[in-house]
Amino acid sequence: MFTNDCLNVNEKGHLTIGGCDTTELAKEYGTPLYVLDESVIRDTCRAYVNSFKKYYDGNGMPLYASKALSCLELCRIAKDEKLGLDVVSCGELYTALKAGFPTENIHFHGNNKTDEELEMALDNNVGKIVVDNLEELERLNSMAASKNKIANISFRIKPGVDAHTHNFIRTGQIDSKFGFALETGEAYDAVKKAISYDNICLKELHCHIGSQIFDIEPFVTAAEIMMDFIGKIKNELNFVISQLNLGGGFGIMYVNSDTPVPYENYMEKVSEKVKAKAEEYGIPVPFIFIEPGRSIVGEAGITLYKAGAKKTIPNVRTYVSIDGGMTDNIRYALYQSEYTVVNATKADKECTETVTVAGKCCESGDLIQENVKIAETEAGDILAVLSTGAYNYSMASNYNRIPKPAVVMVKDGQARVIVKRETFDDLIKNDI
Ligand code: LLP
Repeated sequence: MFTNDCLNVNEKGHLTIGGCDTTELAKEYGTPLYVLDESVIRDTCRAYVNSFKKYYDGNGMPLYASKALSCLELCRIAKDEKLGLDVVSCGELYTALKAGFPTENIHFHGNNKTDEELEMALDNNVGKIVVDNLEELERLNSMAASKNKIANISFRIKPGVDAHTHNFIRTGQIDSKFGFALETGEAYDAVKKAISYDNICLKELHCHIGSQIFDIEPFVTAAEIMMDFIGKIKNELNFVISQLNLGGGFGIMYVNSDTPVPYENYMEKVSEKVKAKAEEYGIPVPFIFIEPGRSIVGEAGITLYKAGAKKTIPNVRTYVSIDGGMTDNIRYALYQSEYTVVNATKADKECTETVTVAGKCCESGDLIQENVKIAETEAGDILAVLSTGAYNYSMASNYNRIPKPAVVMVKDGQARVIVKRETFDDLIKNDI
């Protein structure tokens, strides 16, 4: 019935997550409330780590793409589970540093890194700065020289793979603001430059072909294209690139029609291709990084809301309004993303009502989901939106001066706050 094993229905007919009654969580911590199941997060981390052991002699490392949900506790869990970290800003790096994350396992991304970001990355000796463009390469080389340092870098490459996903989050094609194009020779020229620079050490090539992808094939094709490029660099420039980063993008289940592939299946197919290509070019099998974000935290999370006003407009639709909305989950407004909605108070009842779940912001487009079937709702019922662990808290805003919800972690029937609810004072703390 549910998108995830951590969800269940108890004897009261209430939805449970990680053994906790969601209506009790709502009562104790208030709504809206993000709830994350720790076991699901840890199990997923382990599945990725094990897939490298099983299919690639352990010669790789998953990096948690912290943009999906960055906070101290997630950084601690990623570290604990032996994952590295992908960060894209000083804020994400700062969070990782404060969590005591080993900096050698951090990759710093971004298509327009500021001096402040490059400096913070260099000063903290992050494992890789993933360089996006020539201007950045040159700036980094000078900055590293002035600090008497060597910058370990990767290049973000556009492999030109269409990953059959939503246009807004597709980044593999040539028309993308991210990275160096292969077709135009831009990537090749950048490699030549990097090799010639004194304060740059080019270790890795990186690509990321999109997000919420269910097919294995685009990943294998991207790996093949990247290995062909590594082979060309070896043959023509006699330079060995020993690491390959294949990015994130592994799909998760939001609604029943989503069909995620077991994560190890990606690794199985990708490793076959990479090993074959390494042999073809007579180069060492590269160390592989992947960067899952959504798939680490997405299905582990749900959001709880309290239902309020219900408006039935004859022959049009029924709106059920909730006490949150686009400020805590902007993904329907932004991408028309599908979600499963459950009346958590009546999780054992049949879904007899088709409703549009509307947020409370002053914005007609502030909807969480349209035309979903749920058990008949009354004001005061707790509604749960499933699979909200990724890109919900991390994309939350304070529109209408609404404080961001708390994040609660559950495990084996126990709950603990990992991010406090914002207060009204938090909202005005920078006002002068
Ligand atoms: N690596 C790079 C370089 C990325 O750009 C991304 C996501 C990831 C890894 C992680 O991808 P994931 O495994 O989470 O799919 N806000 C959008 C998603 C944007 C993804 C951006 N980059 C959403 O809510 O769907």
